[in-house]
Amino acid sequence: MHPLVNIATQAALEAGEIIRHYQEHIDQLDIESKGKNDYVSQVDKQAENAIIQTIRKYHPNHAILAEESGRQGKENQGVEWIIDPLDGTTNFLHQFPQFSISIAVREKGKLQHAVIYDPMRDEMFTASRGQGAFLNNRRIRVSEQKDLDDSLLATGFPYHDFSYIDSYLASFKSFMQQTAGIRRAGSAALDLAYVACGRVDGFWEFNLKPWDIAAGVLLIKEAGGLATDFNGGENFLDSGNIMAANPKLYKQMAKVIGQTVPAEHRA
Ligand code: IPD
Ligand code: CA
Ligand code: CA
Ligand code: CA
Repeated sequence: MHPLVNIATQAALEAGEIIRHYQEHIDQLDIESKGKNDYVSQVDKQAENAIIQTIRKYHPNHAILAEESGRQGKENQGVEWIIDPLDGTTNFLHQFPQFSISIAVREKGKLQHAVIYDPMRDEMFTASRGQGAFLNNRRIRVSEQKDLDDSLLATGFPYHDFSYIDSYLASFKSFMQQTAGIRRAGSAALDLAYVACGRVDGFWEFNLKPWDIAAGVLLIKEAGGLATDFNGGENFLDSGNIMAANPKLYKQMAKVIGQTVPAEHRA
């Protein structure tokens, strides 16, 4: 295992302990609103601090981009860590046990390492560029599903910026009519990890943040899948729009997105 993946898994395990502890002590939460349907509690912050402290112990000068504390250091130079300390905060607050920790390492603009950890199921997803993707140290691959008709997709709903809701619903309607089912489980990072290990066949969501998707995209690519923005490009960390699947299904998903989402919402 690459030393940076080791650090990332150690950091994720520490954050996982904090998250599990508070899942048992939900009455102790101090919940703030960052905007419409956008919550944070001390758990997100404590988990993020634990992750950053662990990274800093080994690499005090690496750049960091983390959801709750923002950016430290310059991006696109040397090594940058991209961190979501608790992906699925709404689920966490409702004790709906589907949330994760997402940690990615980018070097000179390229995603190199990924860790996504589900603390309730103790599932650790890891990947390094060119080295494959793993779940609890066992190799994982995307599904072999070739037909959209028989496929199970994951997605995320818009919940605070509704400017693209019609575009989203148009894509949703089309996938609803052409697939075996759609799930909205509530953690984009885990949705992507589930594409990587074949539990779902594909995923699409609009308007995500870099920390929601950076680790998941590398996991999927290392598991033999494709993940792109809605134009088939690599601009997903900036646009926040992402579609992912195994290569055969990806083409069919891209066609639906192309037909239902207008160009201004695909960028
Ligand atoms: C959210 C989750 C959710 C997705 C949202 C994200 P957060 O992250 O990934 O699945 O639909 O867009 O913001 O705020 O719980 O870390
Ligand atoms: Ca959040
Ligand atoms: Ca998130
Ligand atoms: Ca989060």
